[in-house]
Parts: sequence; structure tokens; C-alpha cells
Amino acid sequence: MKTYQIALVPGDGIGKEVVPAGRKVLETLAHTTDSFQFEFEAFDWGGDYYRKHGLMMPANGLDALRGKDAILFGSAGDPDIPDHITLWGLRLKICQGLDQYANVRPTRILPGIDGPLKRCRPEDLNWVIVRENTEGEYSGVGGRMHQGHSIEVATDLSLMTRAGVERILRYAFRLAQSRPRKLLTVITKSNAQRHAMVMWDEIAAQIAAGFPDVTWDKELVDAATARMVNRPASLDTIVATNLHADILSDLAAALAGSLGIAPTANINPERVYPSMFEPIHGSAFDIMGKGLANPIGTFWSVVLLLEHLGEMAAARRVMQAIEHVAANPRLHTRDLGGNATTNEVTEAVCAEIAATTRNSLAQA
Ligand code: IPM
Ligand code: MG
Repeated sequence: MKTYQIALVPGDGIGKEVVPAGRKVLETLAHTTDSFQFEFEAFDWGGDYYRKHGLMMPANGLDALRGKDAILFGSAGDPDIPDHITLWGLRLKICQGLDQYANVRPTRILPGIDGPLKRCRPEDLNWVIVRENTEGEYSGVGGRMHQGHSIEVATDLSLMTRAGVERILRYAFRLAQSRPRKLLTVITKSNAQRHAMVMWDEIAAQIAAGFPDVTWDKELVDAATARMVNRPASLDTIVATNLHADILSDLAAALAGSLGIAPTANINPERVYPSMFEPIHGSAFDIMGKGLANPIGTFWSVVLLLEHLGEMAAARRVMQAIEHVAANPRLHTRDLGGNATTNEVTEAVCAEIAATTRNSLAQA
């Protein structure tokens, strides 16, 4: 029996509610099989840790994560701590420190979920957004001077390296190749951003030569937003810079019905370091502690975690359980217009996982 070491980093806000729910799903799954089990280690990093220690996570915190097989993350954000501190002190520290350069965000309209697009059939919206996750607009390079004076100046440098752009585009082409439509849209803003984005376009053409079976096109990021709304079926795999894809993926999640559903994988494709899985939503202070958070974004992230571990059958079973539960309006949380609680949705998904195991055992 394989044992996977899973780090749990709930972080702040509703992260503390959805990560334990995700753990429950993994535990339920493990109970149904003899082929793998999980060992969990939970880390209490985040806003509370910051109040005690002045840091979001310990300086050597990454050492504790390096040996894990995967990380399940909740969210970082605290009403009393500036957002750039919570973000840079925890989530970005992990993503950049563990070189999780491919941020992968699948979007689909799940059965039973009502998206806001009138003319969009569920089969028209089936995307994966690949977000560059370690550089670009999130390079953190920049500074401020003359602070508080009228000549104050501030810069945030968007930094793109050839190696960084090549590896994310190669990842995106490979992912597009693995999907039925073999269709990739490379999104830039190379009309206005005339240096790094022009380099993206050039590198995209170079990498494309190695993937003759992938059909690809280019789109400017502003036009891409309109295309997502007006012609969703014209898109399949999408690759963009750190900030562009950040914005597009919120739009994608909203078009698929709710930010509460959308998952993320922060992948280190070479597997030198563990990858990290998290719901796309933030810490949602307005509903935290009330048991109202939608845990589906975390469960779908658990599916991506299982796929990354190579547990494809288990991943499929969790996804089927999610779809089964999403299809029942009585099990919709507030973000979906319902009044189900985090707990009710979690219990329903776990019950469905257990039930499908009994069925498949009965058939065998
Ligand atoms: C995301 C989030 C973060 C980001 C926030 C919390 C800073 O929006 O994962 O998309 O911009 O990267
Ligand atoms: Mg975002």
C-alpha cells in the first residue's frame, strides 16, 4: 500500500473550513481502497501565526514542505493585515519557493449549475487556463522612493525570462495536446507591451513548431474577455501571463457559475518539489466561521491533487461525486443561490464516494 504525505495549509478565513472538508474527502477515499493511504501534517500558518510571530510562515517553513507528495492549501488573507503581506508571506512564498511555475485552472459548467451566459450550453465551456506562476507581473521587483513627498515614485517591474516563458508555453502546448480538441490560445498584450509580450509571441511560434498536431492561435487579453463571453466554444486550453491569467480565471469561474467551485493546481512539473492545490476563491471574511463556504472548489482541487499523484481512478470517483452533488439544488451553498452548509455538501460528497465504492465492489 502506498502512503502519500499530504501537507495541509488551511491559512485564513474560510480556508480553515474548506481544507478540513477536503481532508475528509481524502480520508473517505482512503477508507475505500487498499492501494493507497494518506498521512497528513497540518500547518497553522497565516494571519494568526503572523500576529504571534510577525511572519505568515516560519523562515524555514519550505523545508517542512519539500518532502511532501502534495500540499492542500486554503487561502491567505486577513482583515487586519495588508493583503500584499499575507500574499507574499505565504502563498507566493510557497509557489515561488517550490518553483510551482504552472498554475492550472480548469473551468466547466457542472451539471445542475446555472451559469450567467444565456446562450452557452454546458459543452460550450470547457477550458483550462494555464497561468505563469513565478514571474511576470508578480516578480516582486520594484520599489518606492521619496515616500510621503510629492515626488513619490513607485515601480512594479514585470519581468519575463526566456526560460520562464519557454517552460510555461511548453507546458501549455503539452496540456493542449493531451486534451481531445488539441486547441491552444496564447494570450498576450503584445500590441501595447512591446517587449516581453512580443517575446512571448516569438517563443510561442518556436514552441508550436514542436507540436504540429496542436492548433493554436493568439488573442490579446482584452479581446479574450469578450471572446470568453461571446464565443466560449472557440476556446479550449488558454495560456497567459501571471496577471492576465489571474483576471481571466476569475471571469472564467464566474461564467461557470461561481468562484466557489473553481479549483487550482500550482504545479512543479519536474516534480523536484511538491505541487500545491487550492480553491481559487479567497478567504471570504464576510462568511467565515459560519459554515456557509462552498467546499466544491476544494474538492475539485483534491481531484487535481489525485491526478497529479497518478491516482486517476480515484480522481474520477471524486469528480463523479462532486458532479452528483452539484446536480442537486438542495445541496447548493449560498454562492449558488441555495442554503446548504459546508458540512452538508461535504457529507453528501463523502456519502457518494462511499456509495460508488460499494456499487463497484458489488459489480466486481
Ligand atoms: C488567485 C488570487 C491571488 C492572486 C490573490 C489572493 C492575490 O486572486 O489565486 O488568483 O492574484 O494570485
Ligand atoms: Mg485571482
